[in-house]
Order: sequence, then C-alpha cells, then structure tokens
Amino acid sequence: MYRSRFNVDMNKSSFNYTSSTVNDTQIMFYDIIGSQAHVLMLYKNNIITKTDTNKILKALEELKTTTITNESNSDDIHELIESLVVSKIGLVCGGKMHTARSRNDQISFDLRLKLRDDVNTLCINILDLIEVLVLLANKNKRTIMPLYTHLQQAQIGLFSHYLLSYADSLFRDFDRLYYAYDRINESPLGAGPIGGTSIAIDRKFVVDILNFKQSIHNSIDAVSTRDFIAEYVSVISILMTNISRLSEDFIIWSTSEFAFIELDDAFTSTSSIMPHKKNCDVLEIARGKTSRVIGNMISIFTILKGLPSGYNRDLQEIKLPLWSSSEMSIQTISVIKILLENIIVKKSNMENMVLGGYLTSLDIAEELVKHKLTFRIAHKIVGKLVQAAYDLNKPLSTLTNVDLSKSIGNYEQYISISSLIKIIKSITTNSSLRNRTSYGSSGFNEQYKMIKSRLQKIEKYKLKMTKRKNKVNEATSRLSAEVNKIIKRV
Ligand code: ARG
Repeated sequence: MYRSRFNVDMNKSSFNYTSSTVNDTQIMFYDIIGSQAHVLMLYKNNIITKTDTNKILKALEELKTTTITNESNSDDIHELIESLVVSKIGLVCGGKMHTARSRNDQISFDLRLKLRDDVNTLCINILDLIEVLVLLANKNKRTIMPLYTHLQQAQIGLFSHYLLSYADSLFRDFDRLYYAYDRINESPLGAGPIGGTSIAIDRKFVVDILNFKQSIHNSIDAVSTRDFIAEYVSVISILMTNISRLSEDFIIWSTSEFAFIELDDAFTSTSSIMPHKKNCDVLEIARGKTSRVIGNMISIFTILKGLPSGYNRDLQEIKLPLWSSSEMSIQTISVIKILLENIIVKKSNMENMVLGGYLTSLDIAEELVKHKLTFRIAHKIVGKLVQAAYDLNKPLSTLTNVDLSKSIGNYEQYISISSLIKIIKSITTNSSLRNRTSYGSSGFNEQYKMIKSRLQKIEKYKLKMTKRKNKVNEATSRLSAEVNKIIKRV
C-alpha cells in the first residue's frame, strides 16, 4: 500500500526478510486503540469529518476481533491495519486515518502501550510472590538453620531471614519497575516521521484520553529513543537474576545431602531411566530463562548502540527479544509463587545441621569482647578452640579444662580457663538467636519486626498498583466510550 513511488512489488525474499507482521500480533490491540485515539484527535480538531471518523472507528473496532494470517502482504501491523480499514471503507475515507502520523511515532507509541500493561502485570505478580515469601517466613520465624557464606556454614540463623531477604530484593525490583513506568508512560504520537507536522494536531488530546503522563516534547527524541525499553529489560534482568539466586539456593537445599526443603511432587520432574529421581526442573528452568533474559537485554543494547538518530529499521529487531523477556519473566514469577506455596520445609533437618558444626564461634568471640578482650585476641582464642574441637572430633561445648589450656597456650593470660568454659557453655543455639539484636539480624525479635513491616509494605504497594491499573482501565474505557459515542451518533 505504501509503494506509491514504485511500479513493482517488493522482491519476495526481501519482503519476507523484512516484514514483521506475524510477530506484531502482540501489539495489534494497542495499534488499533492508538489509531482510534489518533482518529478521534483528528476529528476533534476538525481535520476529518464526523462521517469519515465514524466509518474509520467502526472499521477499526471490527478489526479487534480479526486474526492475522501469514499471507498478509504488509510490512508490518501498521500497514496491515491501515490496508484492512481501506479495504473495508475505501481509500477516500480510510486513507485519512494516517493523516499527520508516521509509523515512526506509531510504533514507539504501541510499544509504550504494551509495556504499560506488561509492567503492571509484572508488578502485581511480584507483589503476590513477595506475599507468599513473607507468609512462609511468618510460619518459619523459629525455624533454625545455618547461614552460609562461600557456601560454608557461617552463623546460626532462621529460615524466615532468608525468605525475607528474597522478599526485600523483590521489593527493590518492584520499585525499579514502578519508576521505570513513568518513563514508559509518555506519548511520542504526533512527532510524525521525525520533525513534526504542519497539520493542526493536538498531541495533548491523545495524552489525556489514554492517561499518558505527558507528550515527549522533542519530536526527534520521540521517534529515536528506545531508552525506555533498555531500562525495562535491564530492570527485568536484575529481577530474574534475583530469582535465579533464590532458585539456586532452593536447588541446593533440596539435595539429599542438605534435605532442608522438598518440592511438592507436582512441581518436580523425574528421569526416563532412574525411577527414584526427583528433579527441581522448574527452578532450573528459572535459572536458564534468566540467562535468556540477560541475552535479550544484550541483543537490545547491541541493536541500539550502533544507530544514528531517527527511525532505523534495525529497531524492528528489538521486538522479539522484548516480547520474550516480558513473557519469560511474567511466567517465572507466577510459577515460582505457586511452587513456594507448596514447598515442604524440613525443620528438624535444618536445625540438626547447626548442632554438629562450629556456628557459635562468633557468638563466643563476641562474648569474650563483652568480657573486655580485644576482638582480634578473642578471634585467635576461638580459632584455637575450634581447631582443638575439630582435631578431637567433638563439639566445642564438650572441650575439657585440659583441652582448653592446651589449645589456647599463651592466650591464657587474657582469660582464665574457668571463665572461658563458662562462656562456652552459656552459648547455645537459642541464646545466639536471642542475643542477636542488631537491626535486621537473624535474631528472633528482628523476624517479628521485619515480617510486620513487610506485610504493611505489601498492602501499601498493592494500593499503589490498584490505582495505577485503574488509570489504564479508565483510559481504555474512556476511549471506548468516545468511540461508541461517534459510532452510534451518526
Ligand atoms: N515495523 C516497524 C517496526 O516494528 C514499524 C516502523 C516502521 N517505520 C518505517 N519507517 N519503516 O519497528
């Protein structure tokens, strides 16, 4: 339809190579409503007549229920929709819908409409996942387990503390997406191909009817930039990286060696040959999809970094990695949520694991500091004790006077063996968690405070999301109402 200058059709292989129509189904709905908003704007500004407006809007409305086929002869969804309108109502009338608009402002507009919805869906799913984590934390605020650094036992802790740590990273992911939305929610429509138009359009009309925050002021910026997409895929790469860490932890904890948790059978896979196998495929796929989302981000950045200003067809190649990034992250968040709702926590296995090791060593050293020893000296003394206990193959709490004085040697000048024995015996798993009162620590009390504040935060964020979703719904209903008014009136 656009080849006014040429007398020949595009070469078939070149056409197949460059057309994006089939992949554009994801923005078909947005393209239709964007076109309706544009046509209404043309009408309100006396650029097209009421009769033409009525016919175009009606034709566009009918297209909402049309499915695209491969055979279409269009460059993309924009050409397809315009040509379908023209074939329904004729060139004289349908040919007016693209007045004062280019596909360059149109595509960026469609992408922004779609991303508004994707961001909202993701934000709502993230909040649901956070809620599951915090409720599980609430059930496990006295579930004792080792905390790991370098994947070696570090300190005594609580399972709730881990769960709340994932919740907090997800809150940050939520925030990043929530604020990225403000930069997505700006309208490029009316920028034309790059330098605007001489037709008396009103860019603000489209902004207001579809509840955009504002127009992108500079028309060159409006059609050139895809920074809102770069930001979105970066943010979801971070989100997926956080999910990947959770997945990795849970995969390790569900091995027979750890056996801290078990996935419900319904969320595991088995082997074609080994009948006993119970594999965490969902978590492994989440880790794998994280790599793909990061790969998509890199593809998108690589496309963008080499481009001059203005629209370039390379930008079309952004769409597939973008669709797949949205799809994979939305799916991942919702499946991890159900998986966690059904997880089996093996509390006694977790707790037993803290008994055999030397996880109270820092607690002992800190107790020595409270007895006025320098921390470095305390560190040396406890290091010697741990080595002695290890060599004698017994727990710290069963070291005898002789064991102690033999192991600490010269350091006895800083603390008497009898005081040392008293201190060692006074430190238990429970005392360790009772005395850990620093802000945000694994201490028992901190769990209550964190759970309470996170539950309140979830409610506050849910409210924000309801408001934001309502604004998008309000926009589509307002547009439909305006469209219906015109379609019925004439
Ligand atoms: N199919 C194009 C894309 O997806 C739409 C914009 C085309 N503009 C152009 N001047 N060819 O990016």
